[in-house]
Amino acid sequence: MIISLTNQKGGVSKTSTTANLGAGLERMGFKVLLIDWDEQGNLTRHFGVTDPDFTIIEGLLDDEKFVPYSIKEDRLMLMASDPKLSQFDKLFMDQIVGGHLVLKNKLEDLKVKEKFDFILIDCAPGQGLRNMNAYVASDFLLVPIEAHSFSKVGLEQVVSLIQELVKNKANENLNVAGIFFTRHNSKTVISRSYIDSMAEEYSDLPIYNTVIRENVNIKEASEVGKSIFDYVDEYEIVNSNGANDYYNFVLEFLEVLDIEPRTNFSLPVAKPKRMKAKPVATSSNNDTPEEAPAKETKKVRKAGKEDVAKGFKDFMKNE
Ligand SMILES: Nc1ncnc2c1ncn2[C@@H]1O[C@H](COP(=O)(O)OP(=O)(O)OP(=O)(O)O)[C@@H](O)[C@H]1O
Ligand SMILES: [Mg+2]
Repeated sequence: MIISLTNQKGGVSKTSTTANLGAGLERMGFKVLLIDWDEQGNLTRHFGVTDPDFTIIEGLLDDEKFVPYSIKEDRLMLMASDPKLSQFDKLFMDQIVGGHLVLKNKLEDLKVKEKFDFILIDCAPGQGLRNMNAYVASDFLLVPIEAHSFSKVGLEQVVSLIQELVKNKANENLNVAGIFFTRHNSKTVISRSYIDSMAEEYSDLPIYNTVIRENVNIKEASEVGKSIFDYVDEYEIVNSNGANDYYNFVLEFLEVLDIEPRTNFSLPVAKPKRMKAKPVATSSNNDTPEEAPAKETKKVRKAGKEDVAKGFKDFMKNE
């Protein structure tokens, strides 16, 4: 199934969520393709790809160049992007019929949907022909809303967007896979009761219980080219709010779609406390040995580019 991560507003965690949802789904046993649909290339950089051989715009123009990168073998792959994607409107706007069908037709022609359980499209902020292509190609929209904006604007836009697409028969099957709040912090005014009242008002939309908190690990992971899950594994970070929230988010996403995880995956948990060496018993020392505090280790950061296995040229031959 194809899911577009979208919100007209910038900086609300569309890209972070695409990366971490994709990585979480892969860990839960699914095959996932991520499409960077933003000329900023943030999703591409999120996985440490800095100089892609092929990008999505080249793939749209030439089937031979529709070559996703392998992030984790053929189970987590990425169609990269770079500033050339900004030429999309110029290239396809003048098409007499079907300027909004370019992505949908390409994914169908190359049978991309059949090769993956989930295709996640990381939309650019704003609207326009390019994002319309993503919505027309999608089965679902997934909409992050910044918790401190304290507004229903994102929700209302999504509702009217879907109504418009259905009315114009551009995509009558489009649904919402989730509305969720991101970047929650202690200064945020949003409260549980506010989310509950919103869920009541929009009872036909899945508003998630999981709220993604503001957490530095989410930013750090993207800076070293990793998903939050690989990041906390590699740097042995336990009890990361970012990892916990995205873990719950992936589970809630699957629950809404009524899909069971295929594998068990759990986050690193605090190691059992180590006992100090037993003191030599003396007549004056019968106390229980003290427990050493569990240590949170955080290794030095290093660039993640070498972790990205480049190319997957056999992709086209795998039908
Ligand atoms: N929960 C979070 N905690 C801390 N930092 C976050 C969180 N979510 C996102 N960020 C950081 O905020 C910035 C914007 O996030 P992101 O790129 O995911 O948003 P976006 O909606 O894709 O933005 P754009 O509209 O520009 O595409 C990034 O630097 C990201 O690392
Ligand atoms: Mg983005």
